[in-house]
Amino acid sequence: MTCKRVLSGIQPTADSFHLGNYLGAVKQWVQLQEDHDVFFFIADLHALTIETDPALLRKRSLLSAAQLIASGVDPQKCTLFLQSHVSQHNQLGWIMECLAGFGEASRMTQFKDKSQKTGTDRTAVGLFTYPMLQAADILLYQADRVPVGEDQRQHIELTRDLAGRFNSRYGQTFQIPEPHILKSGAKINDLQDPTSKMSKSAASMQGVIEIMDTAEINAKKIKSSMTDAGREIRFDQTEKPGISNLMTIHSALSGSSIADIEKEFENKGYGDFKGAVAEIVVEYLRPIRAKAVELLEDETALVKILHEGAEKARVVAEKTLALTYKNLGLVQ
Ligand code: TRP
Repeated sequence: MTCKRVLSGIQPTADSFHLGNYLGAVKQWVQLQEDHDVFFFIADLHALTIETDPALLRKRSLLSAAQLIASGVDPQKCTLFLQSHVSQHNQLGWIMECLAGFGEASRMTQFKDKSQKTGTDRTAVGLFTYPMLQAADILLYQADRVPVGEDQRQHIELTRDLAGRFNSRYGQTFQIPEPHILKSGAKINDLQDPTSKMSKSAASMQGVIEIMDTAEINAKKIKSSMTDAGREIRFDQTEKPGISNLMTIHSALSGSSIADIEKEFENKGYGDFKGAVAEIVVEYLRPIRAKAVELLEDETALVKILHEGAEKARVVAEKTLALTYKNLGLVQ
């Protein structure tokens, strides 16, 4: 039996993953590598679509890789690499740009939203062609499934359309990928604004638990999280969004059911409960952060892991690109 190929990418646009990223994506990637042929990459070329500081991009790319490995993404079990290390992404990206219609690309809502915010004069052409590079990322590896968040659904639909169009015009070349929309079983919200999703673009980081933060900072953020009215520990997202969010975090990390948590804290107050959640989060993240810090201390070794990943990725990417060129009539 051949196992299904899964591919996903993450942009190196933050100094740290937060608990929402971790539970919503990274933890699920780690599970997928047990019974799938998994390709994960850091989309450093996609990060160039907005103006970036070179030192920061470099730091964040390495930080992302270190955090992925520290979270359990195992370079022995999967193929982990940097997008810019495999030049076939750009090469197939061009082919995808020639295949996509201008109107079709103009309908991408992420582009529309982002370019509206910056204004056309300051929007990079790369932001417009971004989904075609993403299609190339996926199709190069003949991925069967692409685990992504809901916000990426339209890009995966475009990828499917482009793959189908290419196959029917030029002959069978690409596997048509299925989107695998990650339903974060546990939807993690901001600690200060518990009706909004935990996000790196929050107005204040006070409500965001970051993997790379110290235990002290994270414990403090939880202990000073928004307090709901009332006093009992009960799961009720309308009346008690703050406590419910902390219960979701507790349950996702400890494995205890919401009912068991309610029982455990039946006669206790918010202070006790927050203290317990702080302890669980801190202890859960402690080894992940420590491992990431350790990996970052030996940058040469970390970069070597990424080069080895790129070498494995290139074997697959080269094969797909050669077939694509041949089917297009480019002289081989
Ligand atoms: N666009 C994705 C995001 O911002 C990152 C990404 C780039 C990606 N290429 C991909 C995700 C290919 C899945 C597959 O989250």
